[in-house]
Amino acid sequence: MNPGRWAAALTAAAAIWLAAPAAQQAGVPPASQVAPAPDVVRFAAIGDNGTGDPPAYQVGMQMEASRQTFPFTFVIMLGDNLYGSQRPQDFVKKFEAPYKALLDAKVEFYAALGNHDDPNQRLYKPFNMGGKRYYSFKKGNVRFFALDSNYMDPAELSWLEEELKSSGSDWKIAYFHHPLYSSGMHGSQTDLRKVLEPLFVKYGVQAVFSGHEHFYQRIKPQSGITYFVSGGGGQLRSGDLRPSAMTAAGFDTDRSFMLVAVTGPDLAFQAVSRTGRTVDQGHLTLAAKAPHAQRERHP
Ligand SMILES: [Fe+2]
Repeated sequence: MNPGRWAAALTAAAAIWLAAPAAQQAGVPPASQVAPAPDVVRFAAIGDNGTGDPPAYQVGMQMEASRQTFPFTFVIMLGDNLYGSQRPQDFVKKFEAPYKALLDAKVEFYAALGNHDDPNQRLYKPFNMGGKRYYSFKKGNVRFFALDSNYMDPAELSWLEEELKSSGSDWKIAYFHHPLYSSGMHGSQTDLRKVLEPLFVKYGVQAVFSGHEHFYQRIKPQSGITYFVSGGGGQLRSGDLRPSAMTAAGFDTDRSFMLVAVTGPDLAFQAVSRTGRTVDQGHLTLAAKAPHAQRERHP
């Protein structure tokens, strides 16, 4: 499926399109013919991308191709932003060059730190971390919480609780490198889950994005929260996805990234392969009175 068709549909009526059978998708109008929707928050997500190798560049090109019809304005980075050496020239080779088209278009990147990342990345201006290992920011009706899952100390946890408590946003999205749920080589980070999940549930986080596993995976809602693993932005561990009872969808045969649109009470997501193929899609719906009690509808 063409990401552009998906993007155009999101602008018009995501729920209807995403639920439509394949035969009807060909009739979706291009984005240029759809009335503008200024309240939509569009973003992309990549994880484990910082190799500087050709596939990472190809993902960057595919992201830019998607942006032509799905005009996302920022990207959340799920960690392992740079592998290996992290000299100034490495920031060029492993970040600035692969995403040059996006950076030229003023797309902003908001990074979280992975286990391969030098903590000094927090000082690298294009990562928009404000000099901090963990931080939050707001876009439209969405509050994002970028965490450092390498060192989840009490100070970070109490900061997170305060931020969650004071957030008035309808949608709360957390992202960090190590997945709380995953069916891959690394598996679920259960120690991290013990300290984070109670806060997510208590304060109504609806969606969580992580990387670390070098593939794409969507987990069935856990305590009302949907978890995504999107760690195939540059690295790939082909055949490493080991579907289990908690796996809703997965893709481990090529690199991938995600596109997300939040429009009012709807969050539409799509996972896209390096070659532009849609490998998963769907949407989450915000419950009117209990934001954490979302339900998921499959296309
Ligand atoms: Fe990692």
